[in-house]
Amino acid sequence: MKAYHLNSQGGAGHLVQVDVGKPEPAAGEVRIRIEAASLNYRDLITLDRAGQSGLNGRVPLSDGAGVVDAIGPDVAQWQVGDRVAASFFRDWISGPFKSSYVPSSLGGNTTDGMLAEYVVLPANALVAVPPHLSTVEAATLPCAGVTAWHGLITRGKMSKGDTLLVQGTGGVALFGLQFAAALGARAIVISSSDEKLARAKALGGSILINYRDTPEWDAAVMKATDGEGATHILELGGPGTYDRSLRSVASGGKIVQIGVLTGFGPKPDLARLQWENADIIGVTVGSVEHFRTMNRFLSEHAIHPIVDRTYGFEDAREAYAHLRSGSHFGKIVVKL
Ligand SMILES: NC(=O)c1ccc[n+]([C@@H]2O[C@H](COP(=O)([O-])OP(=O)(O)OC[C@H]3O[C@@H](n4cnc5c(N)ncnc54)[C@H](OP(=O)(O)O)[C@@H]3O)[C@@H](O)[C@H]2O)c1
Repeated sequence: MKAYHLNSQGGAGHLVQVDVGKPEPAAGEVRIRIEAASLNYRDLITLDRAGQSGLNGRVPLSDGAGVVDAIGPDVAQWQVGDRVAASFFRDWISGPFKSSYVPSSLGGNTTDGMLAEYVVLPANALVAVPPHLSTVEAATLPCAGVTAWHGLITRGKMSKGDTLLVQGTGGVALFGLQFAAALGARAIVISSSDEKLARAKALGGSILINYRDTPEWDAAVMKATDGEGATHILELGGPGTYDRSLRSVASGGKIVQIGVLTGFGPKPDLARLQWENADIIGVTVGSVEHFRTMNRFLSEHAIHPIVDRTYGFEDAREAYAHLRSGSHFGKIVVKL
């Protein structure tokens, strides 16, 4: 079968296409014929670190969906032909997070990912694709969708009447926006582009701020909300946005700490949290249980993920380049 491997020969990380043996499912495992895999910002970080131990030769991408193609002994819950997606952490099935789940993240340092024609995974690490979604759409859910769900809904308890602030119009941000719209929460979107803001408005964004034209977007958030601020903030930027997120949070609000779009580094003075009686919720994606619950919500509200562009398997490198350009709106998918 064909797959891609991360490779760091010559310095910079890059992708090489390889021919490898088709994997066989053992007891408790299922083989999936992958139909689509999607990219996340994390995959750029992983590619750039391809020289680090464990990453060289690894199959990238955490997110994929396809059709069950073979079943190992002792698997009762799936049948050949079922449409499934894999959960980001192979071993986090339900209950609270444990750091021991980290090595099981697909497409990370120690576990192969989804950019391959066939993948074998434990049966309990899979979820059914919601009937209203294509496998291309379902391939966008495992990282970005589940992260927004776990942070905003499971932990953040966002509901009707709340005000959500999302940063940019990438994968996690647009899932947050769609969840807010479905719940009847107000959504504030900040973006580098007026054209993207117009598209975010069509998805339910009601306060739209161009952060290039308005670098002090926190002041604009406060003005637009009559000084109240946002009850929920998807903190996706990291050091470059955190201070303004703190200055945008409503009393009793929640900052869902997720991203590193402006890099890694120290966070600003958090004193404002205590003045506003606000919380920070730290999130690393979510469990199979979170994924299933989110899928029910997607079906109930007929939500379709926003797919910016699909690429053929041969063009996977171009899909990465498109993600790096930052010109996308929503998710980028490689179709097999
Ligand atoms: N903790 C976790 O478990 C977890 C899970 C998923 C993702 N993440 C992190 O969350 C972040 C978003 O991931 P993603 O996959 O959704 O990314 P993505 O799809 O690549 O989104 C990138 C978009 O973010 C916006 N952006 C970039 N810099 C910005 C800034 N300074 N201020 C506001 N917006 C900015 C831009 O949108 P515009 O062009 O509209 O401005 C850009 O197109 C990444 O840092 C990722 O590593 C963490």
